[in-house]
Amino acid sequence: MIGIFDSGIGGLTVVKKIFEYLNRYQVLYIGDTARAPYGDRGKEVIKRYAFQATDFLLHKGAKIIVVACNTISAVAVDDLKKKYNVPIFEVVNPGVRAAVKATKNKRVGVIGTRATINSKIYEKLLHKADKKIQVFTRPAPLLVPLVEENWIKKPETKMIAKRYLHPLRLKQIDTLILACTHYPFLKKLISLKVGKNVTIIDPGEEVAKVVKKYIDQHRDIEKMLKKGSRHQFFVSDKTEKFQTAANHWLGTKIKLKKVDMYMNIEQA
Ligand code: DGL
Repeated sequence: MIGIFDSGIGGLTVVKKIFEYLNRYQVLYIGDTARAPYGDRGKEVIKRYAFQATDFLLHKGAKIIVVACNTISAVAVDDLKKKYNVPIFEVVNPGVRAAVKATKNKRVGVIGTRATINSKIYEKLLHKADKKIQVFTRPAPLLVPLVEENWIKKPETKMIAKRYLHPLRLKQIDTLILACTHYPFLKKLISLKVGKNVTIIDPGEEVAKVVKKYIDQHRDIEKMLKKGSRHQFFVSDKTEKFQTAANHWLGTKIKLKKVDMYMNIEQA
């Protein structure tokens, strides 16, 4: 199975792309909805939560791990790669590569959680790829709870999105990285507020392409992955709200199962 995790339901935007690019394989998803958002938490806490989610997915039979969260990718992926001996994919590098390719005027915007923006990982990697790129970053933390609330079309959400994106519009960026897997839920609104001519990069889509390429090139791993559509979705807190948002986003009725991530995973 392909194991995918996020702090909440944002990672479903990555699941959707994995379904698009790799529809033969079973997916195992865990969203830590009880403890989301992660984006304002400290590094050590985020790492601990990332270990718990990875343990859970491996225990359930995942053979590949996709970190469907920029915050965890920014602060914990090196530690995950050190600890676990399975292929682990993250969203930051694929997003950066796509932005470098897309920008013409070399002015790239990045919105993400505070933890992601403060880590400066996007600036670092964008500059490493091309010194001439100017990077304009902005934390947009309120968009995460608005998505978790399924407030996609509310006027309040439009107002907040404008507040975050208008300054980037003024910087005349031609490319914007959605450096939080919750944000693709708001892609249309974000595009409207930042300017329709700005290319929007969804790192979730980019990582799906990377995972596909990897699986195509690694027969040994491919053989180990379960095929079919018996996907499983776990959350650490199950509410009507998450269920509705998840069904809506994936365009099909899915069964969310509640699991206590802080308990011994053997009991899960
Ligand atoms: N969706 C996650 C990300 O990509 C985390 C959002 C949060 O939990 O704050 O950053």
